[in-house]
Amino acid sequence: MKICVAGPGALGSLFAALLANAGHEVWLLDHRVERARFVASQGIILHEAQGQRVVSVRATADPAQLGLIKLIFLCVKSAAAAGAVRRLLPLLGPDSLVVALQNGIAHHRLLAEILPLWALGVTAQGATMLAPGVVRHGGCGPTSVGFLSEVGASAQRRLQETVELMNSAGIATTSRSDILAVAWHKLIVNAGINALTALENCANGDLLVRPAALASLKEAVQEAAQVAKASGVQIAPDPVGMTIEVCRNTAANISSMLQDVRRRRQTEVEAINGMIVRQAALFGIQVPVNQALLTGVQTLEAKFT
Ligand code: PAF
Repeated sequence: MKICVAGPGALGSLFAALLANAGHEVWLLDHRVERARFVASQGIILHEAQGQRVVSVRATADPAQLGLIKLIFLCVKSAAAAGAVRRLLPLLGPDSLVVALQNGIAHHRLLAEILPLWALGVTAQGATMLAPGVVRHGGCGPTSVGFLSEVGASAQRRLQETVELMNSAGIATTSRSDILAVAWHKLIVNAGINALTALENCANGDLLVRPAALASLKEAVQEAAQVAKASGVQIAPDPVGMTIEVCRNTAANISSMLQDVRRRRQTEVEAINGMIVRQAALFGIQVPVNQALLTGVQTLEAKFT
């Protein structure tokens, strides 16, 4: 099958490599011409526990090269999602399905305004970008996909085919009717881990052995869970325990936000802690820890330019 993965970051490179390795015709769509040329010539170098392999993928910065695409994985950062999707519009036919895999939930409304049909994807795959076209696969966490609104039988069938295709490529995936709750759970976990690791400049597991950081993690998660509940989301009984478990399972991981800070790139703090702060304001809920995390990472970002 011809598949487009939009976004050459850690997750996009990982998905492109795994799908190409399963025999699909995969096009990695970049917005930078030089980087696309580089990946097209060298392939994606995938570092895994069992060693290193090189996977050939097609890569381009020109969507016109692709023709119609039935399955697109949108793997850009949430702030770039709407712009990336607009570039993809000429690739979409009546049967095309876009699976959007951004952190946070802030971009959902924009995608719904632009795209005729899209599914939300939430993944716990561990991916770290080591260099352009070089990605470390740090763990095979589960991936969930689902629609945020009612869709017809043919769209459901397309989603089911996508789930099968992902599983056959080694991306363990299930389809969920409660995908919004799954996205909120990831948002709560990210609110507790990502900004803190960026500010502490540490791996996820280190948060558990730094008492002040652990206290902030717990408070940030409790605040985010309170906002989720006020938003009408059915959340797991122990969100703090759930986040600590993720820290343990990804102890050696450098969070996506810390990866961005180290590379002096704009982070997703607006879409994560910023989302909690904005949503809390709607319900008059106080979220001082999320506010402090947001301000702290924004202060770091301000030094990048
Ligand atoms: O964004 C990330 O890095 C990941 O969602 C998580 C779960 C925090 C693991 O690093």
